[in-house]
Amino acid sequence: MSVLIINNVYKHFGGNPVLNGINMSLQKGKIYQMIGPNGCGKTTLINVISGMLKPDGGSIMYEGNDITKKGLYETYKTGIVRTWQIPQPFITLTTFENLLFSSDENSGESFVYAPTSTWHKDEERIMKRATEVMKMVGLSEKKDTISQNLSGGQQKLLELGRAIMSGAKLILMDEPIAGVNPTLAKEIFQKISTISQTQDITFCIVEHRLDISFQYVQHVFAMDEGKIIVEGTPNQIVKNSKVIETYLGV
Ligand SMILES: Nc1ncnc2c1ncn2[C@@H]1O[C@H](COP(=O)(O)OP(=O)(O)OP(=O)(O)O)[C@@H](O)[C@H]1O
Ligand SMILES: [Mg+2]
Repeated sequence: MSVLIINNVYKHFGGNPVLNGINMSLQKGKIYQMIGPNGCGKTTLINVISGMLKPDGGSIMYEGNDITKKGLYETYKTGIVRTWQIPQPFITLTTFENLLFSSDENSGESFVYAPTSTWHKDEERIMKRATEVMKMVGLSEKKDTISQNLSGGQQKLLELGRAIMSGAKLILMDEPIAGVNPTLAKEIFQKISTISQTQDITFCIVEHRLDISFQYVQHVFAMDEGKIIVEGTPNQIVKNSKVIETYLGV
């Protein structure tokens, strides 16, 4: 079943066409990647899906509802989360506190202001979920580390954890492993892969580092000049002559 259907979406900036009739269909629980040369419209497409920008034409349906005209917050509430859109981690809070505060069920305040003895079932459930999510993103050993003392890659894992805690069902990421060392970059994609399978979360990721991402993603959209020129599995994409010519430049 398609969770997200993008139908003939257009976006212009001051008369400049940036998205030129985008059609995409995403299935639940799969990992999608968007590739394409600099300036071809990948980030703009993510902005349009997340509600940060409104398209000039076309429609976006999410789980059967028309979200084309919804703004950022309304779209976020439907379960579409762009990782960096989550309020910046409170840098003086620990990993665990950051996860608690991101819960869609609770503002997190009760954890801070109420003594443990007065916690209700809700709080206990959120604590349990935060512990699970912390394990999922591989930060259990950093439970009590203040988030500003986490490495750049660990902060990205925390962002991913916060997105899951927020109840996200479709997670959009713009270059999640940019500037991350190869070992941690692989680890981030491994986590994304496990999370997509175990939590049934759909991922839509813009990423240039194909050597790493192509081992984990299931479907690739290759863009050029605001259009999807080819789509398919990573194997099909690397063999496609249009992609080789346009993107890989060989
Ligand atoms: N807010 C804006 N106002 C005007 N032009 C914009 C705006 N945002 C993006 N553009 C232009 O739209 C085009 C597509 O930009 P976009 O950021 O979507 O590309 P991209 O594929 O993400 O590129 P990169 O790989 O470099 O991140 C570029 O020419 C860019 O200059
Ligand atoms: Mg971009």
